[in-house]
Amino acid sequence: QRLELALESIEKGGYEHFMLKEIFEQPRSILDSMRGRMIAENNHLMMGGIREYENKFANAQRILIVACGTSWHAGLVAEYLIEDLARIPVEVEYASEFRYRNPIVNENDIVIAISQSGETADTLAAIELAKSKGATIFGICNVVGSSIARATDAGAYTHAGPEIGVASTKAFTAQVTVLTLIAMIIGSKRGTIETSKLHQLIAELEQIPAKVEETLKLDKQIEEISAIYKDATNFLYLGRGYNFPVALEGALKLKEISYIHAEGYPAAEMKHGPIALIDEQMPVVVIATKDSSYEKIVSNVQEVKARKGKVIAVVTEGDTTIPAMADHVIEIPETSEHLMPLLSVVPLQLLSYHIAVMRGCNVDQPRNLAKSVTVE
Ligand code: G6P
Repeated sequence: QRLELALESIEKGGYEHFMLKEIFEQPRSILDSMRGRMIAENNHLMMGGIREYENKFANAQRILIVACGTSWHAGLVAEYLIEDLARIPVEVEYASEFRYRNPIVNENDIVIAISQSGETADTLAAIELAKSKGATIFGICNVVGSSIARATDAGAYTHAGPEIGVASTKAFTAQVTVLTLIAMIIGSKRGTIETSKLHQLIAELEQIPAKVEETLKLDKQIEEISAIYKDATNFLYLGRGYNFPVALEGALKLKEISYIHAEGYPAAEMKHGPIALIDEQMPVVVIATKDSSYEKIVSNVQEVKARKGKVIAVVTEGDTTIPAMADHVIEIPETSEHLMPLLSVVPLQLLSYHIAVMRGCNVDQPRNLAKSVTVE
């Protein structure tokens, strides 16, 4: 047993938990997910899995995305990316709902199935259903040779490396990276992205690993914030636009490993319900980076403060407006709003990690959860 423990500590590479190791691996895993697919110097994008289906993608009337859990959140980010950059309608579905609701699917549809493990039973069943209706199935998996990878017509691996912690972290950012590349490739094929914008996005994406590295330096500060809120019973996460799926993902991370009830909401929906929950006990994490919805989210922060909620704001470096209102400010590097989820999710991963550790929870293997859910 001592040998086992020693081996485990070697595998953790000096980190206390796999989850922390995997969070810190992200500069590397994001780079690995882009490797060979983007050559920034000459603005070149290529993805083996797509090449054969490039026309099919470019002419698709609709893209359906099926997934579960964190992978479903990556799918939501992809909806914003693909609709914005490639102008193809996208629907994102929980695989478990899709498979049982007699969905309309046809040969002109492309179904993208996203799964870290490649073994999720509901996702696999959703694929089989879509296949039986003639759709083309594209898989985005992390585990090579997994059931989903084998069941699809084509696909792209995320290359994030093995993810051991049950709460998904580096697999999420790798999925989002691959989906970003796909949106850019289809968009450029369809001529729906201006060349200058495409080049700018490529240059920005190239810098993302270094910016994630910068973001990870906030770890100590986030640990201090965690200590203040570790005993909270509820948390609210708010975001708009590209940061809305990030709010959902932040809330999921906290629920999964710290067992604190958390809800993610599109910030503007707050007034249709969650605002009733806000009082001086309620920590509200607001992802309020400088993007096209920034002005709107400033008012949402004011609404929370007017009800005495505690605001933990994730903002873009140099912002002065939100810091003047928030209780705590986490400053992350600037990037294009299309790529912001790759940065803004990182502090939320760290926040949930530290809170869970402080509460004495089993971070890598939370109660009642499994890394891959092979039963429905
Ligand atoms: C489980 C895991 C989650 C994961 C979800 C989907 O619930 O605990 O971390 O997001 O399954 O898994 P997949 O392997 O299909 O991405």
